[in-house]
Formats: sequence, structure tokens, C-alpha cells
Amino acid sequence: MKPFILSLFHHPILQSVADHLAFDIGKITYREFPDKEIYIRMQDVLQDRDVIILDSLDRPNDKLLPLLFVAKTARELGARRIGLCATYLSYMRQDKQFNPGEGMTSKYFAEILSANFDWMITIDPHLHRRHDLSEIYTIPNNVLHAAPLVSSWIKFNVKSPILIGPDSESEQWVSAIAKAADSPYLILEKIRHGDNDVEVSLLDVEPYMNHTPVLVDDIISTAHTMLETIKQLKTAKMKPAVCIGVHAIFANDAYQSLQESGVERIVTCNSVPHASNQIDITEIICNGIQQASQ
Ligand code: R5P
Repeated sequence: MKPFILSLFHHPILQSVADHLAFDIGKITYREFPDKEIYIRMQDVLQDRDVIILDSLDRPNDKLLPLLFVAKTARELGARRIGLCATYLSYMRQDKQFNPGEGMTSKYFAEILSANFDWMITIDPHLHRRHDLSEIYTIPNNVLHAAPLVSSWIKFNVKSPILIGPDSESEQWVSAIAKAADSPYLILEKIRHGDNDVEVSLLDVEPYMNHTPVLVDDIISTAHTMLETIKQLKTAKMKPAVCIGVHAIFANDAYQSLQESGVERIVTCNSVPHASNQIDITEIICNGIQQASQ
């Protein structure tokens, strides 16, 4: 029987993924009582059907409880397997105790999701000090990569790009995108002093003065990494930059600040729904779901 796919938070690719895979879209009544408790009613017969929840888990605190309630309801209604397609996976940051007494929230979040879903796929999670999601997620999981989509966007939209990666951790990723986009690349040295305090040092840009700088990062959150880089590019009198982020988090006024910084263009994937989305992840998500739900 065909799986049901549903989105609690109106993911923009729900319809295209369902069409592509010929899955049924699951219908759900979801509302808040006046006291803010949640009411959930699944409107389909889920007995022995696979259920896939497709959502971005940015701003996760308000999303987690509804997500768990829906997974638990589907389980109670006899769903065969319940998969989570988290196009953005949050709570990856705090992956160690930097100071005594701190909570290792990435691990706790992973424990909660692993206890309620049968499998999970996601795109480019922020694996910092971890090498594999399976170090914390105990369910079958698969990491999909937006790099090929980013490369082809650059290839078709930017003339003479010079790719710029934010830090040494990004080198592997940025070099692969650059290779596929037939572009040179530079990697910055970055020191983060605090959430909103980032220091970056630009290398020798002299050979690239006729190129268009393309800043590529997995996440744009406060945008300070990009804003600091743009300052340096301006000082070096380079052309206005194209900023590409896979996940458009844009905390507080980050998007506005980046727009006002004199960049040529801001482009993101639609893993996190946002006005800057221009790179469509439907195809890689469909491939990932097909593999995971076999
Ligand atoms: C850091 O390791 C990441 O790759 C990004 O550079 C970082 O998350 C961007 O954050 P922000 O936009 O807050 O500077």
C-alpha cells in the first residue's frame, strides 16, 4: 500500500514530493485549544500504512511536541513504519559540554526523535565534532547533500565565480562544490567569539579581482559570518558578493542586515521555507525517501 506523507508545518515541497512519488497526502486536523494545548486528529485510516512526516525542524521548540503527538497518534492508529524527513535538523550545535553543567542538547534531541520514529533522513546537518548522525541517532538515518544542487545553481547563474568557504571545517564541502562548478575557491580563517561576534580573515584575493565572490555556507543564522566576510571583500574592493546558504535560518533581523550589506544576491535551498529560497530540494528528498522507505 502507498505511504501517506504529511507536513504539520506546511512544507512548500509537500505537494511536489507527493506528486513525484505518487504518495497520498495525509490529512490532519491540528489546532490549539484556548489554553494552548494541542488537538490532533488524523483523518485517514493508517492501519498498516507507512507514514512519512516532512517538515523543517528550524525553530524546534514549538514544533517538537506536535511532531511527537502526531507520530504517537499514527503509531496508535496502526501505522506500519513512521519516517521523519527533517529537511533541516536542529539541535546539532551543542554536541559537547564546553563548560561544567551544560546540557548536551543534540544528544537529548536525538534520543527523543529516535524513540518516536522508525527512520530519519535530513539534508546537510551541522555535524561539527561528530562524523556521523548514528553517533547520537539510534534509528536508521541517511544524510542527503545539497552540494550538487548548489554547484549547478552557481554554474548556471554566476559568471567567473570565486567560491569562499567560512572556515576550515567547510573546506571539504566547498572544494567539492567548487570542483563541480569549475570554480576556484578560498577558505577563510574564522574565530567565533560569541553568537553575534565573529572574526574572519580573508586570504589573498588579488588574483580574483575580476571574479564574483560567492560565499557558501551550510547555515545562515545570525549572518555575522557572511556580514564580516562582506566587510573584508569591500575593503579589498572586490565585486558585490552572491551569498548562498543551504539552510535559511536567518535569526531575528539577519536577512535584512544581509540584504542591506550591499550583496548582489542571497540564495538558499528550500530546506527551510524562506523568501530567499531559489534552489529546489524536491529531487534529492524524493530519492532519499525512496531509499529509506524500501
Ligand atoms: C559554522 O560552523 C557554520 O558553518 C556557519 O558558518 C554558521 O552556523 C553561520 O552562523 P552565523 O550566520 O550565525 O554566522
